Amino acid sequence: MRRLARGIVRGAAWAVLLVGSARAEPVEGRIDALLARMTLEEKAGQLNLISHEPILDLGSFRRGEVGAIINFSNAGLVAQADRLARSSRLGIPLLVGLDIVHGYRTIFPLPLAMAASFDAGLLRRAAAAQARESVGVGLNWTFSPMADVARDLRWGRVVEGLGEDPWLTGRLAAAQVEGFRDGGLASTLKHFAGYGAVLGGRDYDATFVAPTELHDLHLPPFREGVRAGADAVMTALTALNGLPTTADPALMTGLLRRQLGFSGLVVADWQAVASLVKHGVARDGAEAVRKALLAGVDMDMTSGLYLRHLPEEVRTGRVPEEAVDAAVRRVLRLKFGLGLFDRAVIDPDGAEERLLRPETRRLAREAARASLVLLQNRDDLLPLDPAKVRRIAVVGPFADSAWDQVGPHEGAGQEWDAVTILAGLRERAAAAGVAIEFAPGCPRVCDGRAGFAEAVEAAARADLVVAVMGEPRDRSGEGSSSAYLSWPGLQHDLLAAVAGAGKPVALVVVGGRPTELGPALAHAQAVLMAWLPGTEGGPAVAETLFGDANPSGKLPVSWPRTVGQLPLTYDALPGGRPHLPGSRWTMGYADESPSPLFPFGYGLSYTRFAYGEPEIVTPHVGVGDRYDAALEVRAAVTNYGTRAGRAVAQLYVSQPVAGRSRPRRLLKGVALLDLASGETGTASFRVPARDLGYHEPDGTLVVEAGTYLAHVGGDAVATRSAGFTVETGWRGPPGSDEARR
Ligand code: BGC
Repeated sequence: MRRLARGIVRGAAWAVLLVGSARAEPVEGRIDALLARMTLEEKAGQLNLISHEPILDLGSFRRGEVGAIINFSNAGLVAQADRLARSSRLGIPLLVGLDIVHGYRTIFPLPLAMAASFDAGLLRRAAAAQARESVGVGLNWTFSPMADVARDLRWGRVVEGLGEDPWLTGRLAAAQVEGFRDGGLASTLKHFAGYGAVLGGRDYDATFVAPTELHDLHLPPFREGVRAGADAVMTALTALNGLPTTADPALMTGLLRRQLGFSGLVVADWQAVASLVKHGVARDGAEAVRKALLAGVDMDMTSGLYLRHLPEEVRTGRVPEEAVDAAVRRVLRLKFGLGLFDRAVIDPDGAEERLLRPETRRLAREAARASLVLLQNRDDLLPLDPAKVRRIAVVGPFADSAWDQVGPHEGAGQEWDAVTILAGLRERAAAAGVAIEFAPGCPRVCDGRAGFAEAVEAAARADLVVAVMGEPRDRSGEGSSSAYLSWPGLQHDLLAAVAGAGKPVALVVVGGRPTELGPALAHAQAVLMAWLPGTEGGPAVAETLFGDANPSGKLPVSWPRTVGQLPLTYDALPGGRPHLPGSRWTMGYADESPSPLFPFGYGLSYTRFAYGEPEIVTPHVGVGDRYDAALEVRAAVTNYGTRAGRAVAQLYVSQPVAGRSRPRRLLKGVALLDLASGETGTASFRVPARDLGYHEPDGTLVVEAGTYLAHVGGDAVATRSAGFTVETGWRGPPGSDEARR
């Protein structure tokens, strides 16, 4: 019902039909009527999602063999396909999907970078803007957001997600779901489940996740996304504990539908049904189809096997027709919910006007600014002072690389739309009468020193050097896992050479994810993580370097010193031998510190914040029969620096003694405070008591009575702490926390 009610927002015509539960019946009635008229082939057609291929069988649309399409990202093609589908015997319109990961044409920073804002409202507005561009070309469904937690930075897909923490990921993924809906797109939570645990960070490799970890770490973001009303859930391409998710009924039906209460559409990932044969759990396509459908997978993405085999599987009795009907019903419900039956075919002539609108570009710039993380600022080098800095040398292979800036998963994004960091700096510097000299020093691969001398000379002539270095776009994204976290080529040598000119260096690091910074921290006084900042990345970086904007981004992942530390996350268990520097028999490495270079949640500002002692408003939290009980914490935050800035106050909770060893601390709340210089604000947090608990292997939620600690500060090392107790514990059988919300 919640899902149907949401349809009102989308289709004005449907508002008449969908208000209130009684009025929802006509939709179910219309679905019944359609189902009653459909042949088995037409039913299989509704479950068939095809991609745009160079040679397309247009007749398949007319025959009702296609229920959804992907990669038809051209308004004319979409319109043609939709027209053909509507001319089929039953005239059922198409779901038109695409991965809108960080924008359609106006490209925002990648989700991992956006997560650095810790700002759910911003992610919601960004998703809505991305959706509004997309619907103009006829898209009505996105395969986003990715709710997989980023547990190993070698995994290229960390850029598509929202960081290592399940609470933050859940909150931000839910915001994206809401934003896509605001803008008119159906959303998909992906990839269910455990994809973030691929062995060695190798994309598509196996995942082995203990049941407790599955419930505590991997499922919570999906739970939040489902609660926010996600329309679809996608399987993962991987096998979880030996069973491919696409063939796992306990996962796709037991956990997803029964425990998480998801009632929407389940779509297989790309060719995931066919891949069951490669995984070695199906002899042939027919068996793959049987296993996937019976596991609870409604729609087959691009393997074509449902269309080919499902009718026969039903006729021979191997698959009950009711199971097929239930899947078709979910597809039709989504189509009705989107108002597709009552909407005209899109107007391709209006598509262009929706792209790259000034307000969308402005929002992309705001998002890029909010994602910047200031990692180091020795002697307050930044923001640069135009009264003293009259000439800037811009060096580094990524200063003028629009292609990299736009990043992977770029939708219909074009490099020529993007304003590079160099271009942004040129414009901003001109306004301040500051000269810019550009000498990249080496090409993108940075495989030679021929340009070093020119860069060093430019540095020597300048008052300040802005070095833009890091990773190209192809070192992250799907299918781009990497064994190294180092910068390609001779960039560190270039930086050392340029620093040798003796001028202060502000290093702007680009790349989808954290990389090894090594000697760069010594060579550069200031270090700003810019990620791959998208279409408006250049102005965002320039405005920040010049101090028009004050950075407030916080790391959504722990920043490692070296790749050998991976996986490395802040929420580790304490262990029986916690690390003691210099003590060999404690947890760690013989040759490297086990701590990150920068902790989760870390990021500097041009101003400074002081956190007061946390005040526990609810020192005795009585969970027991009061399921709505909550922990409330307040802390004063003072901006004692000289500029206005945003504090990102973070609340972590720990349970020092419990029935099971628990993570050292867990993020449970974020408060964003915009404070003027000298101003004190109050960070207020409210944590539902159920969020203090952990899960048993079967999904039972346990909130233990006992003593807990609340830690408040500006990163995961937050040192201000106060205790509280949970008076009466609570145990909820699997799924009961959903039922009671
Ligand atoms: C990815 C999905 C994506 C799909 C369609 C797959 O390879 O794993 O995340 O939605 O392709 O582009």
